[in-house]
Amino acid sequence: MFKINCLNQIANVGLDLFTDNYEMVDSFNEANAVLVRSSSLHDQELPRTIEAIARAGAGVNNIPLDKCAENGIVVFNTPGANANGVKEIVIAALMMAARDIIGGINWVNSVKEDPEVAKLVEKNKSKFSGREIKGKKLGVIGLGAVGVLAANAGNKLEMEVYGFDPFISVNAAWKLSKYIKPTKSLEELYQECDFITVHVPLTDKTKEMFNKETLAIMKDGVSILNFSRDSLVNDDDMIEALKSGKVHRYVTDFPNPKVCGVQGVIAIPHLGASTNESEDNCAIMAVEQLMDYLENGNIKNS
Ligand code: MLT
Repeated sequence: MFKINCLNQIANVGLDLFTDNYEMVDSFNEANAVLVRSSSLHDQELPRTIEAIARAGAGVNNIPLDKCAENGIVVFNTPGANANGVKEIVIAALMMAARDIIGGINWVNSVKEDPEVAKLVEKNKSKFSGREIKGKKLGVIGLGAVGVLAANAGNKLEMEVYGFDPFISVNAAWKLSKYIKPTKSLEELYQECDFITVHVPLTDKTKEMFNKETLAIMKDGVSILNFSRDSLVNDDDMIEALKSGKVHRYVTDFPNPKVCGVQGVIAIPHLGASTNESEDNCAIMAVEQLMDYLENGNIKNS
């Protein structure tokens, strides 16, 4: 009998795959394996019983990888399982960055009781005028499962798409998607693009990659979309860039108190992968990986 501790809500379609050989346990301390979505395990003691941890999601920065390696604990994630969900919210974010939909909605809510609302709309709507994304340049940083889908979506929206990935050569990037113009350096992408969307993991190298120096290279009025990790951005530098107009809008899936409420920030409560389909896909992949490892010793992570 294998004992599984589930730390977050994981879709039933995944949990239902566990056979009679499995028992769900409430305590981390008696589990053979752990299923987790966003809870951080960094401050957890890792009991000797734990053989594997499966993260229902792509990023693994909530898991102490070094400690797991030292203790022989295998860590799984679910790359690609939620990529379509994230791609779709990136499309919405592009629209919200280009058009002041959020500002307009907030304003309508503030005047909706006014009997003259129709007249007010005519008088005020120019305040919320936006621009179109057709023909604009979209920079995609990170050409993994999500980045490539976002790039292809940008192409379908008639944008000119630039891609950069630190681990993929210019030629290989072209093969991933014929719509991506591979750039030789991040600087080139920064200089060219009107909209930049980032899809890289948080590492020592990518931490605060959006900072005073890199923001300064970008086009005036650039919009930045962050559906990867909060710490990719230096908040103070981003706020400064928003105030000066260097950055037009910053759409972030990580509403931290520093940036929330700053003019130009659109903060979303980590909804990138929060769709029924993505949650189901992640749960199924995570549970299948765990079962295959516990029962057969197989390590498949794709
Ligand atoms: C991911 O890393 O794929 C996301 O953070 C998934 C999630 O929302 O849990």
